[in-house]
Amino acid sequence: MAAVAQTRQRDQVLEGGGTLLALCEAGGLPLASACSGAGACGRCLVTILEGAETLSQPEQRELDLLLRLGASAKERVGCQCQVPAGTTGLRFTTSYW
Ligand code: FES
Repeated sequence: MAAVAQTRQRDQVLEGGGTLLALCEAGGLPLASACSGAGACGRCLVTILEGAETLSQPEQRELDLLLRLGASAKERVGCQCQVPAGTTGLRFTTSYW
């Protein structure tokens, strides 16, 4: 199990590795995107509920966008943070699921 996306209806297990945006797309779970994962729009912002330490450290593009969005310390840019294959214990959600 790579990650668990928590929605109002259910928890959805997302397998594999890659960006959170890619995992959601592969799992058929809509994560908003207006820049096709370029790290520019901020629509793919997610809240990490558990396992934040399993994600890649934010690079400058993500840090700049998080600052511009006024994001909290629990939020990450879904198209920019990487989930290593084989990750366990990661749980995240959005404001609109
Ligand atoms: S999809 Fe636009 S910032 Fe992630």
